[in-house]
Amino acid sequence: MTIPPRGSGCFITFEGIDGSGKSTQVARLAEHLRAQGRQVVVTREPGGSPGAEEIRALVLQGDPDRWSAETEILLFTAARRDHMERLILPALAEGKVVLCDRFADSTRMYQGLSRGDLRPVVDQLHSLMIGQEPDLTVLIDMDPATGLSRALSRQTADERFEAFGEDLQTAMRAGFLALAEEFSDRFRIVDGAQGIDDVAKDIAQIVDRALA
Ligand code: ADP
Ligand code: TYD
Repeated sequence: MTIPPRGSGCFITFEGIDGSGKSTQVARLAEHLRAQGRQVVVTREPGGSPGAEEIRALVLQGDPDRWSAETEILLFTAARRDHMERLILPALAEGKVVLCDRFADSTRMYQGLSRGDLRPVVDQLHSLMIGQEPDLTVLIDMDPATGLSRALSRQTADERFEAFGEDLQTAMRAGFLALAEEFSDRFRIVDGAQGIDDVAKDIAQIVDRALA
């Protein structure tokens, strides 16, 4: 099956290091948009469809060296493909706003950069199997030490990547900022060190402008 063309909805993704406040802000933005009468779908990666949630448990739990970076690229892309087919594209076809906590930019960073330069492999598989970019990507920029302490305070089982520690968070922060320059047409950067309400206000302003 080839990936069908995009519908009339709007596809917005959130990126940033662990603990930067993405899930908090996705929920806040959904509230804001629903209050305007918009139909909003909130989802996340890895996951978002039953099959992709099963893959999520495989990639996020267990030893940090459980998978090679190459195997991870395949697993994350398989999860994404299922998520696109079953949830994201049907919602966009119905004209909904889709808010997704992480997407392909996370694979470009975590699998593409963290263990050698695999970015070309990530990009090739992406164009072969996914072939779509978001309309808008909100990057919540955040100091790595604060992000990691916020993330670890949550105490979930999905900590395989958090176990890679602050060095990984630092590399990912720099990588995301570089990615925002590379895809400057769709990326907007928000300062995640502010309080939750102020971050939410900045994001609402960016998204309202994009949807107008
Ligand atoms: P992410 O999805 O990026 O990993 P979360 O939204 O889960 O981040 O936030 C991680 C933790 O930090 C949560 O406990 C959340 O309540 C808290 N948090 C989120 N945003 C802020 C903020 N702006 N200031 C302080 N704490 C925050
Ligand atoms: P998530 O649950 O969103 O973590 P957090 O809320 O702490 O940001 O994502 C889990 C981890 O999965 C996160 O450490 C980044 C990693 N990840 C990848 O390595 N590649 C990917 O393609 C995606 C989507 C996530």
